[in-house]
Amino acid sequence: MAAPHPATRQVKTPGVTHNETNAPQNTLASSPTLLLNWISAYHKAIVANEHWLTELDSAIGDGDHGANMRRGVERIMEHRGDLKGADLSTQLRMISGHLTASVGGASGPLYGAFFLHASCVVSPRHETRIRNFATCLEAGLQGVVGLGHAVAGDKTMVDVLIPVVTAYKSIVRRHISPAQFFSETIQIAEAAMKSTISMQARKGRASYLGARSIGHQDPGATSMFLLMRTLAEAATKDPAFTVQTQKSTTRKLIP
Ligand SMILES: Nc1ncnc2c1ncn2[C@@H]1O[C@H](COP(=O)(O)OP(=O)(O)O)[C@@H](O)[C@H]1O
Ligand SMILES: [Mg+2]
Repeated sequence: MAAPHPATRQVKTPGVTHNETNAPQNTLASSPTLLLNWISAYHKAIVANEHWLTELDSAIGDGDHGANMRRGVERIMEHRGDLKGADLSTQLRMISGHLTASVGGASGPLYGAFFLHASCVVSPRHETRIRNFATCLEAGLQGVVGLGHAVAGDKTMVDVLIPVVTAYKSIVRRHISPAQFFSETIQIAEAAMKSTISMQARKGRASYLGARSIGHQDPGATSMFLLMRTLAEAATKDPAFTVQTQKSTTRKLIP
């Protein structure tokens, strides 16, 4: 029997709240330009916040996170033309390649893994429609965790991704507008980023500082907040964006 398409696989991540198996399936549809708009907005956000990321990484790391991320987003923008004609899965994979090749440090391969794993659950047949968007982001989270082995509370970018993925998974059970949902998501990501201030780093360079890492916001959690914020903003502005909550088609078997 042929293996199921990755988009149909069940993905489970420790720390993420999972829906019931018979929960209604949610579909987020968007225009083909969503990813391009998201990445352009992320480029602007990184450039605008490069010094902040540098300062944060200077306090508990080696001060290169701003420059690392700027190199990454600039490389993506240089190759933006190639992204235009590609399907969504290919776009995500190309972004992964650019980030892995250019960002460097610990965060480069981790961001690369995020986009690579996200690309694997997007069906090539649904270029403009991400069936179960939460699954896509969760796959990205799994890529980061699979490579870096961070868990919640380790003071890393994972501390932003976990609550955001949980929020995306929750949309299937809620009756709120996309605008409300995305605005909530931004607040959740921001609170998660700030929650890293009180954590002691257990992964990455900051972990060498032990208790002295407490009291500083994690730079990778901050760049991940910017990624999640720009995604929510791009999706809110997308004229084709819709959220369809479908009723479960699960039927009881009559004995
Ligand atoms: N094992 C890990 N899992 C998840 N994120 C990590 C891990 N190690 C480091 N990070 C993230 O990477 C960020 C540092 O990135 P960067 O400064 O670019 O790399 P480096 O630490 O090599 O200089 C940290 O703030 C943290 O969020
Ligand atoms: Mg660094």
